[in-house]
Amino acid sequence: MNPRISPLTEHTGAEVLGVDLSAPLDVPTCEELNRAFLEYSVLVIRDQNLSAAKLLSAVQIFGEVFEQHNTRFALPECPQIHYLSNQDHYADGKRYIPGAGYHTDHSNDAMPPKATILLAVELPDTGGDTQFVNMHRAYTDLSDDMKAHIDGLQGMHVYQSKHSTRKLMGLTPEQQKKVPKSVVHPLVRTHPETGRKSLYLNPIRIEDIIGMPEDEAAPLLAGLLAHSTQEKYQYRHRWRSGDLVMWDNRCLLHKANGDYAHTQNRYLYRVMLKGTVPH
Ligand code: SIN
Repeated sequence: MNPRISPLTEHTGAEVLGVDLSAPLDVPTCEELNRAFLEYSVLVIRDQNLSAAKLLSAVQIFGEVFEQHNTRFALPECPQIHYLSNQDHYADGKRYIPGAGYHTDHSNDAMPPKATILLAVELPDTGGDTQFVNMHRAYTDLSDDMKAHIDGLQGMHVYQSKHSTRKLMGLTPEQQKKVPKSVVHPLVRTHPETGRKSLYLNPIRIEDIIGMPEDEAAPLLAGLLAHSTQEKYQYRHRWRSGDLVMWDNRCLLHKANGDYAHTQNRYLYRVMLKGTVPH
């Protein structure tokens, strides 16, 4: 195969054409895609037509599959693949939009997933974009004073932070036993493969900064988030039928948009790949 890879912005995202993930890929193609993933942080692989089982086997060219925390969304026929849908509701009847609000996936895990992969199955006519921001760029642009201030700080991550403006779907008591109560990760992490430093924030999961009073930690985190989510750090993905999008959770935040008619379905497959302990 001869993938054609073109950048989508000056800092984040590349479109990949000419790859069919339903069949095994040769080694040079796998290596090229893995290299592109590290370089661009988001790969948009167009024109994929994959069952859940084929998706599961295809993504393993990038790494090992990570067990997602809330098994409520697992596909019965292929439980390592979960779904995202706008047709689920909270217990109080309100619509649940998975992934609304900037975050990085499963940072409440001791070894958060390095990557998340979505495959579009059904899309609304318009809207429902996924937005990404580049946390390496955001870190690089901080002042030297701010870098010195946050260097060495540790965030405490939990399943659902008391500060989060987004309510997650609750875990069953059985699932809670498998998910750590809290984990501590650096606020600035170094990418294990590229060596680049990034801010590692998660407004949905960060409960506290270790050793810092809350009235200092909350404005610091809010200021860093406001800085990081500026449009200049963004790649906004407008979904097309057949898109497989994979992103690097170690150096990006992302969010889903619920800005479309919910009489239309937005349904995607989701799978994650194992990461390492953030340092
Ligand atoms: C997610 O946060 O994993 C979902 C993103 C999306 O649905 O666009």
